[in-house]
Amino acid sequence: MKVIISGTDRAHSKSLELAKYIQSLYKEFGEETTIIDLAQLDLSSLMNCHYNKQAERPDDVVKAIEMINESEGLIVVCPEYNGSMPGALKLFIDYWSYPQSFEFRPVCFVGLGGRWGGLRPVEHLQGVFGYRNSYVFPQRVFVSNVWDLLKDGKISDSFVVELLQDQAKNFTKFIKALRSQNLDALSVN
Ligand SMILES: Cc1cc2nc3c(=O)[nH]c(=O)nc-3n(C[C@H](O)[C@H](O)[C@H](O)COP(=O)(O)O)c2cc1C
Repeated sequence: MKVIISGTDRAHSKSLELAKYIQSLYKEFGEETTIIDLAQLDLSSLMNCHYNKQAERPDDVVKAIEMINESEGLIVVCPEYNGSMPGALKLFIDYWSYPQSFEFRPVCFVGLGGRWGGLRPVEHLQGVFGYRNSYVFPQRVFVSNVWDLLKDGKISDSFVVELLQDQAKNFTKFIKALRSQNLDALSVN
């Protein structure tokens, strides 16, 4: 199962709307996905754990990290906040397990934002996941001026739709190719 992460804790976010749209594209290709919506996680309790493995972590966050560790691949949908990724997403990532959550795990990125469509947070995330030895899928998609482009769950720019479809098809092939050689996280860990 692939996991789509909606990368903000902001209620009624465009990120979640886009994550659901991407989920529907994968479904069209016969691929099942699950969404982790950061707005549904108890991230404020997580903060009190101070990275201490012994400290009791909120159940929903533990479950979400388990889903990540069992996933065949991650699709991170990330909005641009102040020129980078939302703090909530980085906080969540900083509580993942290393190496299980990251190493040899295929991951792809969709950015959203104003004029630059989330280019900066996606590049920051590529650095984070590259550093942690994930397989960073090179085909990225950026949704610029997301307020105009994505309304009522629909994307008005057919070129962006094509880019998302292409990414979904190729990311699925990428995962299968790695799996066929026992090179992905599920084979290695
Ligand atoms: C705290 C905050 C900071 C933001 N900073 C930027 C920014 O630096 N550049 C940008 O293009 N958009 C910025 N935006 C707009 C978001 O990128 C845009 O609304 C987005 O892609 C959708 O975010 P959402 O998932 O929270 O709805 C910011 C929004 C918020 C809430």
